[in-house]
Amino acid sequence: MRMRFPQPAASEITPRAVYEDRRRLIAQLAVGAAGATLAGWAQRQALAQTAAATPRPGKNLALPAPRTTLPGGAVMDKLTPYADVTTYNNFYEFGMDKGDPAEQAHRLQVRPWTVLVDGEVARPRRFAIEELLKLAPMEERIYRLRCVEGWSMVIPWVGWSLASLLKAVEPTSRGKYVEFTTLADPRQMPGAASRVLDWPYVEGLRIDEAMHPLTLLAFGLYGEVLPKQNGAPVRLVVPWKYGFKSAKSIVRIRLVEQQPRTAWGRAAPQEYGFYSNVNPQVDHPRWSQASERRIGEDGLFTRKRPTLMFNGYGEQVAGLYAGMDLKRFF
Ligand code: MTE
Repeated sequence: MRMRFPQPAASEITPRAVYEDRRRLIAQLAVGAAGATLAGWAQRQALAQTAAATPRPGKNLALPAPRTTLPGGAVMDKLTPYADVTTYNNFYEFGMDKGDPAEQAHRLQVRPWTVLVDGEVARPRRFAIEELLKLAPMEERIYRLRCVEGWSMVIPWVGWSLASLLKAVEPTSRGKYVEFTTLADPRQMPGAASRVLDWPYVEGLRIDEAMHPLTLLAFGLYGEVLPKQNGAPVRLVVPWKYGFKSAKSIVRIRLVEQQPRTAWGRAAPQEYGFYSNVNPQVDHPRWSQASERRIGEDGLFTRKRPTLMFNGYGEQVAGLYAGMDLKRFF
């Protein structure tokens, strides 16, 4: 059964027909607009939005909240089709093949679910998922997600900035890093019985990265509750870092004084640095990071697209790393 977000009042909902009409209008504007730049922009905008509106049988695309776009954070690229977003996944707790999570994740029980937020905070607390869904207004954010393996997607996430949650628990001055721990239950997750990683999956951010408005706690995608293979019921999305920093199915968020030891960092420290910012100039020992394949768009002859510094979010996040040697702190 497909679960829905708490819905806004009927008066706040843009009826789907109106929503789609608006998209058509934008497309028409593009054709008629005199300024070529504006036309180009509007066309790209319409393209991206039409992809979002592509009807899937029986699926209601009404969004839980008005769409918002962060300054400079707009992504004009075409959205990756829902079918690709939900069948080409990395979620090793459900197996190592890209198709395993879509096949196996139905075993995951997402209710009841709680997230413990503790460590260096004045108000440690265990949140029920229902409380988190109401903690801040839901936003739709279209982000590129770049995997260290050399592929990328463009996904309309639904969630709110992690900063809202961190502020609620009041970090102390000793809270210098944030550690994310995800569920590891071999009874529900066949892959968690394997030894690919030393479970549970742990990831981490520096406090300023965690507080950055782009850092999203996501509960949904394409206007709907997160599919289990994408990290239900709650996951992180850090769009300027490689995908593995975006931990799925989070059960604990702990503020700590020392840099957390992450699951990938423990498994292969020479391959997975703590920062893992998308950086075309610093290659992974096994994969070039200079270019990427966009999932769902690639034919045999499709050219790879160049990977952008900080995955294209440099304007917003480069300041976090001023003066740091990003080859050393990869
Ligand atoms: N989170 C957990 N718990 N386990 C995982 O194996 N894989 C990571 C990340 N989060 C992973 C995880 C990797 S490598 C990537 S690229 C992204 O999830 C993929 O997210 P997506 O399947 O929603 O695209």
